[in-house]
Amino acid sequence: MEQLVASWHNGRSLPETYVLPLEIRPGKLNVPVSTNIIPVVDLGGHDETAIIQQILEASQEFGFFQVINHGVPSNLIDEAMNVFKEFHAMSAKDKAIQCSNDLNKNCFLYTSSHRYATEKYHFWRDSLTHFCHPLEKQIQFWPEKPTRYRNVVSEYTTEVSKLGSTILELISKGLGVSPEHFSNGLTENPKMIVNHYPPCPDPTLTLGVPKHRDPVLINILLQEEDLYGLQVFKDEEWIDVEPIPHAFVVNIGYVLQIISNGKLKGAEHRVVTNSNSARTTASFFVNPSDETLIEPAKALVNTSSPALYRSLPYKDFHSKFLVTSADWKELEKFVRTTSA
Ligand code: OGA
Ligand code: NI
Repeated sequence: MEQLVASWHNGRSLPETYVLPLEIRPGKLNVPVSTNIIPVVDLGGHDETAIIQQILEASQEFGFFQVINHGVPSNLIDEAMNVFKEFHAMSAKDKAIQCSNDLNKNCFLYTSSHRYATEKYHFWRDSLTHFCHPLEKQIQFWPEKPTRYRNVVSEYTTEVSKLGSTILELISKGLGVSPEHFSNGLTENPKMIVNHYPPCPDPTLTLGVPKHRDPVLINILLQEEDLYGLQVFKDEEWIDVEPIPHAFVVNIGYVLQIISNGKLKGAEHRVVTNSNSARTTASFFVNPSDETLIEPAKALVNTSSPALYRSLPYKDFHSKFLVTSADWKELEKFVRTTSA
């Protein structure tokens, strides 16, 4: 396996292969980049219409919002974050025993990006990835160490999955699409990505993850308390996403952009590193199964609003995403209808 950043970064200066070209380097950090604030939606309120409106507005304006009073117990969130941190703190040897480095496996561990072998420069992160549904089938592929991993993470993914359904139901009501639209194959294959960004010798020169859009319906992200790192690109500037204890950060992915026929936008974001502390995050990607067709919802397509995207199986979209994500326009061309 390529060397995980966690195994070698201590006491080293930033290797040349992690120094990014000027145009994508974050440059100066620690100055507030923007006064814009990602909206925080209280899901505990009783006025559903108001909640839907807040979610739709945030999704259209930023492609991002945070949720509080979301129903996932705080102690479960703390336990899950602890076990994610413990996983990445294990020795490289133990991690390699627990997971494959084969991207086609149900659970695997990689560093930088899916394209390590061919990319021109690398990114400062290690990631553990595994599928979640059906739990009875997937859990056997998950790490057995830390010993609590399977217990805690199965409970965590069950709860976060419910939250995902709630959020998609609110979004479907806001868009005017039947809530059942999302209860079939479109949400059948969620995936966990447990990211780990070790302390970085020079955060101005490199990134944890470069500017991207998630190839998913929505992502429900857990951040560590007190540690900044996630930034959203809006109106040509980067906005920091404040870490709020026990909140989740939700973002619209490119698949939901297609389903909503462009009414919602897959949000562009990146991850900056910091020199003091390791930062761990957990993405819960709400995702279709491979064979599920992704296409604009019929309820959103009519003569005045023709389909902007063609229909294609999720697996075709995802394989194209993997080869083109560095070149966003290529993916756009691939998924657009020819008439658009
Ligand atoms: C991702 C992602 C953000 C973060 O996993 O796609 O954007 O802060 N993660 O780790
Ligand atoms: Ni992302």
